[in-house]
Amino acid sequence: MSANKNFSNTDEMTKNDKITVENLYYIYKDLKLDIVALSGLSTEFHKGEVSLIMGPSGSGKTTLMNILAGILQPSSGNISFLGENVSNWTETHFREYRKKKITYILQSTTLFDFLTIKENFQFAFDLIGKKVEKNYFNNFLDRIDLKNRENYYPNEFSAGQIQKIAFLLALEKGSQIILADEPTGNLDAKSRDNFMEMINKMKPELKDSFMIIVSHDPALMKIADRLFILENGKCKTSQKLDKFSLKTTSKLSSISENEMNERRIQGKIQNTITGLKSLIKELESITIEGESN
Ligand SMILES: Nc1ncnc2c1ncn2[C@@H]1O[C@H](COP(=O)(O)OP(=O)(O)OP(=O)(O)O)[C@@H](O)[C@H]1O
Ligand SMILES: [Mg+2]
Repeated sequence: MSANKNFSNTDEMTKNDKITVENLYYIYKDLKLDIVALSGLSTEFHKGEVSLIMGPSGSGKTTLMNILAGILQPSSGNISFLGENVSNWTETHFREYRKKKITYILQSTTLFDFLTIKENFQFAFDLIGKKVEKNYFNNFLDRIDLKNRENYYPNEFSAGQIQKIAFLLALEKGSQIILADEPTGNLDAKSRDNFMEMINKMKPELKDSFMIIVSHDPALMKIADRLFILENGKCKTSQKLDKFSLKTTSKLSSISENEMNERRIQGKIQNTITGLKSLIKELESITIEGESN
């Protein structure tokens, strides 16, 4: 299940194959009170893996993503990208890095709505100085089954198609770090499954990249290599997922859409390894109940 063909175990990885976060704090300074969103978070993300971050609402997931994307500066702590300590970088250096190496996909996507899909791609490629073959644009959307729709505007696609386009763009840009906050948050179960299928197809091309996805949707465990659970601004769990049998994880995707929405709303994810185990049991029992009806 792991996309990581280069490393059979974590020990073989060097710091150059990781994003490392150490003792990270982020405090939102408000007029009335300070809100500690991250309180000493430490963890590491591995190259070639799809990392899934879950955790209750308010646990600091988006704050962490915004820091990784360079949108927020941590109040304290260290981050290193492939062995380079980001806190030593100048703002200009980070901006350049972000432009070339990072794609941040939001629920409402990062595409410009006043540009066609083709123009969006052209714009992104121009920014990083990427040259493409003359006939590139004839077929580029074929990979996600949207052939001949390059001259459409983003609002002429469904939410699921837009997410697929945004991920395709990240891939085509050669982004090393692909961050996505709730990419399936607006999708129904069918579009979500379709999206997951696309990520699975992309996996071989991601072996030199980090894909970090935040979601409340346990079905995404099916495509993730490692699960991180945040709680109260700390990383409580970092768990490789391939020890779970496909049989178990495939049951996760059969969770009903209503249940999925409820979980999204409540952010009802338990937060320790024990919590994770009981979550799987809980989901299995939901599946079994469904099957027997
Ligand atoms: N702009 C802000 N100003 C003040 N506090 C904020 C701000 N953004 C987030 N917070 C607070 O920081 C904490 C972490 O928020 P964050 O958005 O990172 O959580 P999250 O895990 O992404 O939640 P969700 O699952 O609901 O998206 C919460 O207590 C939140 O209220
Ligand atoms: Mg969030």
